[in-house]
Amino acid sequence: MGSLHETNPSLWVGTTADPPRFHELHGDATADVVVVGAGIAGLTAAALLKEQGRRVVVVESGPVAAGVTGYTTAKLTTLHGLVFDDLARAFGDDGARTYADANLAGMATVADLASRHGIDCDLETRAAYSYTVDPSVVDKITAEVAAAQRIGLLAEFVTETDLPYRVEAAIRLPDQAQFHPRKFCLGLARTIDGGGSAVFEHTRATSIHDEGDHCTVETDHGTLTAGHVIQATHLPFSDTGGFFARTHPERSYVLSARLDGPVPHGMYLSVDSPTRSVRSARMDGEEVVVLGGEGHKVGQDPDTRARYTALEDWARANFPIRSVDYRWSAQDYVTVDHVPFVGPASPGRDRVLVATGFKKWGMSNGSAAGIMLADRIAGRDNPWAGFFDSNRLNPKQSVKDLVAANANVVKRFVGDRLRTETRTVDDLDPGDAAVLVVGSERVAAYRDEAGRVHAVSPVCTHMGCTVTWNTAETTWDCPCHGSRFTCDGAVIQGPAVKDLEPRQVHA
Ligand code: FES
Repeated sequence: MGSLHETNPSLWVGTTADPPRFHELHGDATADVVVVGAGIAGLTAAALLKEQGRRVVVVESGPVAAGVTGYTTAKLTTLHGLVFDDLARAFGDDGARTYADANLAGMATVADLASRHGIDCDLETRAAYSYTVDPSVVDKITAEVAAAQRIGLLAEFVTETDLPYRVEAAIRLPDQAQFHPRKFCLGLARTIDGGGSAVFEHTRATSIHDEGDHCTVETDHGTLTAGHVIQATHLPFSDTGGFFARTHPERSYVLSARLDGPVPHGMYLSVDSPTRSVRSARMDGEEVVVLGGEGHKVGQDPDTRARYTALEDWARANFPIRSVDYRWSAQDYVTVDHVPFVGPASPGRDRVLVATGFKKWGMSNGSAAGIMLADRIAGRDNPWAGFFDSNRLNPKQSVKDLVAANANVVKRFVGDRLRTETRTVDDLDPGDAAVLVVGSERVAAYRDEAGRVHAVSPVCTHMGCTVTWNTAETTWDCPCHGSRFTCDGAVIQGPAVKDLEPRQVHA
């Protein structure tokens, strides 16, 4: 879901000059396929389906590619940290190879679509590295290189990089890529809109109904009717498959900076804790560095501003920073077996499809999901679809993690309701927020820097957990499944589709 409500716009949002605008939906419409969500997964599926002669309607609650896709580090690679050794242990080498093949195809599809449609999106070939600065982790790098080589990747073990600090070891995978995700998605949306297909911005889908021989999608601007519906909304909001209970949301932090010195040209991710991500990008014609890290579970950090501070402190200690120009944070869902869910929203029902759980690797996984969903609707066999099956169960590997994740949700659901704040609205300083008891009800109250109090219900409209204040982004975030709301309660990010109810307080 798109937002642009963010306090901290990303480099990608801030450097998209004159983005094309798409109309809101006005009234009812029909299509062969409705795609809900105009990020990379939804737009890739829509573009491929349109090329195959389908009439496609894409609806997006905010602007195109201003949600998760607009807040990524935008690396296009199949090297996702330490991934191949883990996948090979869980699923065998065939499983690891399938994951790699799908992501390589996702990367190739971005390049192909950009080339064929003339989309200028700063696409550049780069080597990807997963590295460690910890001697005790070198064995894991060695195992990762061995697993990658076994499945046919041209990976190598290296100790030299163009980072400005020493690493103990790294796996290097050549011929990966980086790009400007918003320029790509806006260019793609332009190719979809027209000729019987359409992209509608600022149109929020609120429910999806599988009617047996067709589907309907209710939006806040009219009803859409189609043969198939794709939910590419980060986490499905019309969740008949229980994806909210099979994933958990994680938030991480990014900054971009100009340097007084050389900018590294590799795409890096440390496998240490806390993780660190490094890549280059362009801003106003100048090469800049994009640095990320500090991941944590959504809604479970009392002061997210400290995350930006920690990231910037590390950046200044390791790079010759001239200026920090953008700071932003991103959120993504992680599945218990670390493989995305792509396919039917519930078993045996093929009209409503989903893609979720990209584990912060949504550029290649999202594009791969778009291919798989387009193939499914076209009735074509897809070699990766079984591995990514949205309704799979891998009890051997994931039950323990699944139980732990849901125990955490239950704890938040019950514990946060019982927790009481003794402060009153008058006790809130400018910039301060808290869930308070006012009269007989609980109120999520924020006093802005001008002293005005914004008061809403603290009860998340998805499934009733209590929201918590995100100090860095000045938003109310739900610790259970990651919905996010502005200080006035407007939904920024699902699975919630309804705003928090307003509350009256006298301050
Ligand atoms: Fe599920 Fe809030 S996101 S209860």
